[in-house]
Amino acid sequence: MATEERLTSGEELDDQLAQLLRVESFDPPAHFKEHALLSDPAIYEQAAADPEAWWAKQAAMLDWDTPFEQVLDDSKPPFYKWFLGGRLNVSHNCLDRHVAAGRGERIAYHWLGEDGSEREITYADLLAEVERFASALKDLGVRKGDVVGIYLPMIPEVVVAMLACARIGAPHNVVFGGFSAEAVRERMEFSDAKLLITVDAAARKGKVAPVKERVDEVMGDLASLQRIVVVRSKGVPCEMKAGRDVYYDEVLAAADPKCPAEPMDSEDPLYILYTSGSTAKPKGILHTTGGYLTGVAATHRYAFDLKADEDVYWCAADVGWVTGHSYIVYGPLANGATSVMWEGAPDYPNKGIWWEIVERYKVSILYCAPTAIRACIKWGAEWPNGHDLSSLRLLGSVGEPINPKAWLWYHKVIGHERCPIVDTWWQTETGAIMITPLPGVTRTKPGSATNPFPGVVADVVDESTGESIEQGQGLLVLKRPWPSMLRTLYKEEERYVNAYFNRFGPETYVVGDAARRDADGYIWVIGRIDDVVNVSGHRLSTAEVESAIVAHPDVAEAAVIGQHDEDTGQAIVAFVTLQGDLEGDEREQESIRDTVAERIGKLARPKRIIWTDDLPKTRSGKIMRRLLRDIAEGRELGDVTTLRDPEVTAKLEARIGELRAAEE
Ligand code: PRX
Repeated sequence: MATEERLTSGEELDDQLAQLLRVESFDPPAHFKEHALLSDPAIYEQAAADPEAWWAKQAAMLDWDTPFEQVLDDSKPPFYKWFLGGRLNVSHNCLDRHVAAGRGERIAYHWLGEDGSEREITYADLLAEVERFASALKDLGVRKGDVVGIYLPMIPEVVVAMLACARIGAPHNVVFGGFSAEAVRERMEFSDAKLLITVDAAARKGKVAPVKERVDEVMGDLASLQRIVVVRSKGVPCEMKAGRDVYYDEVLAAADPKCPAEPMDSEDPLYILYTSGSTAKPKGILHTTGGYLTGVAATHRYAFDLKADEDVYWCAADVGWVTGHSYIVYGPLANGATSVMWEGAPDYPNKGIWWEIVERYKVSILYCAPTAIRACIKWGAEWPNGHDLSSLRLLGSVGEPINPKAWLWYHKVIGHERCPIVDTWWQTETGAIMITPLPGVTRTKPGSATNPFPGVVADVVDESTGESIEQGQGLLVLKRPWPSMLRTLYKEEERYVNAYFNRFGPETYVVGDAARRDADGYIWVIGRIDDVVNVSGHRLSTAEVESAIVAHPDVAEAAVIGQHDEDTGQAIVAFVTLQGDLEGDEREQESIRDTVAERIGKLARPKRIIWTDDLPKTRSGKIMRRLLRDIAEGRELGDVTTLRDPEVTAKLEARIGELRAAEE
C-alpha cells in the first residue's frame, strides 16, 4: 500500500472506522476465495450429513502406525473415545513424517529473542533435538504414562520438551511462564509430576528474571518430583541440588541421538493442562492423542486456510495456554507449517515490534487476542503504519469476544481491508477451534465468531429447559462429541461429569458461556456465566483469587468479581474486609496484590481493591457475587431484603460512588 494511502491517526481514522461500522458484514474477498482451500458452502452440509465420515477423513490425513477400526465410541456418554484401535505418535506426525517426505530443510520456527538474537529451526533440526531429549528423558527415568511438568518461557526448548514427551508417551503438564512458582508447585502436586523442565531465568523487557531460584523456594518438599531439568537460557548461575537437578545441555550431550517414536493408542493421554474453574482448585484438562491431533490439524488447516509451502504463520500467544499448545505447537507442526516464535512482549523494545516481526519474516497469517489489538489501538496506528504489512493475507482472533471497533481497526489498519478475519471461539476443554468463519466461505460480522466448524454442533439453548433458541440469548452448548474434546479432568472423573454435563445430561456439553443467535443464525459469544473471569484473554477463577487474598494475614474475608474493562475485557475487582480494626490504605493494597502475585501470578492481581466492613450475604451466609457485580457496574439492585444485612449494599454503593468520583 502506498504511503499516502496509509492511515495516519486520530480523527481521520475514527471517521473511517465509523463509516465501516455501518457495514454490517463482510464477504470473503474475491481474490482470497479464488485460492482458498475451502470455498464451497456445501462443505457444511457434507460434514453435517455424516460427521463421523468427515472427521475420519480428517484423521486419515495423519500418519497412522495402525489404522483405526472404529471412528467413535459413544456408548458411555460423556466418556467418548475416538479412532479406536488406531495407533500413532504425535511427534512422528509433527516431525519424522515431514523429514521423511523431504521437507526436513523447511523452517519450523523463525525464533526471535527479546535481545534481537535469531534462531532458524528446521524440521530436521527439531527432530534431531527432540530425539535426543526424548532419550534423555528416558535416561532420567521417565516412562510412558509419567507426568512431566514444563515451566518454560517462549524459547525453542519448550517445543522440544513437549514433543519429546509426546514421543515417549509421557503426558506433559505445561504451566504458563507468567504463573508463579507456587502455582507451578500446586500443579505439579495435583498431577504427581515426576520431572520438571524449567529454565535458569527468563527475559522480561530488557531485564532477566530468575526462574529456577523461585522454583527452588517452593518445590523442596514435593516427594513425587524426582528430577528437575534446567535449560541454560540466560546464563544465570543456578544452585543445583545433587541427585535431583541436571542441566538440559548436559543430559542432551550424553543422550542417544536416536529415539524412535513409539506408537501410542489413539486414546493414550497426550497432555494435561490446568485451567481455571469455578472453584479455587484448577481443573486438569486431559487431552488424548488421535482425536486431539485430528482436531487441531484440521482446524488449523481450514480456519487459517493454511498453505504450508507458502505461508508464514504466527500465533502470538504463549505456549503455556491452550492456544499455544494447539496453534503454536501441535496444529502447525502436524501441518508442516513455518511459524514465527517471539520471546518477548508486544511493547518491548518498542510498540512497533509486532509489526517489525511481520515485516521481517513476511508473516502471512497472524493470530492474536483482542486485548493485544485494543492495546495497539491505544498506542496508535503510526506503529503498524511504519511497517510493510503487505505479506499478511489472513488475520485471526481468539480468547475473548472482540468488540466491533477492535475488529474494524484490525481489518483496516492491520489487514488493509484485504485480509479476512477469523474470530475463533473455543476453550482449553475443546482442544481445537469450535466456532469460526471459514475464510473463503463465510460472510463475517464484526464481533461474531459466526458458525460452528464443519462437524461441530453448537447450539444456543434456554437455560432452564435446554430447548434451542432460534433467535435470542441463552447458554452456549456443544451437542455432539468432537475428536479433540477433553476426555476427563485428571484424577477427577466425577468433577468432569458435574462441571460440564450436569445441566442437560451426558450428551450436551455445557460450555459456561452465554451467547446470542441472530436472525441469520450467527453466534455471538457474550462471556462466561460462571465464576470465571477473562482478563486480557487469560482465564482466571474468582475463587482462586479470593483464596489467594485471604491468605494475606491482614485479610478477614474477600469476594472477587470480574468487571467490564475497556482495555483488558474484564478486570479483577476485590471487595476486602480486613481483620479487626485494621484500616485499609494504599500500602495494604499493594501488599495484598503482592500476595496474589506470589500465589498465582502477576496476571491475577486485582485492579481495584475496595475496602468494606461486610459483604452482602444471604441469611445462610453465602456471598452474593451477583449483587457485587451489579454494584460495581452501577446497575439497579432490585430487592435486597433477603440479605442478612440489607444495609451492606447501600454502604458499598456509596463507597463505589466515592471511588468513581475520585477516579474522575
Ligand atoms: O469465554 C470464552 C472465551 O474464553 C473462554 C475459554 O478460555 P480458555 O479455556 O482459556 O481458552 C482461551 C483460548 C481458546 C471461553 O469459554 N473465548 C475464547 N475465544 C473466544 C471467547 N469468547 C468470545 N469469542 C471468542 N472468539
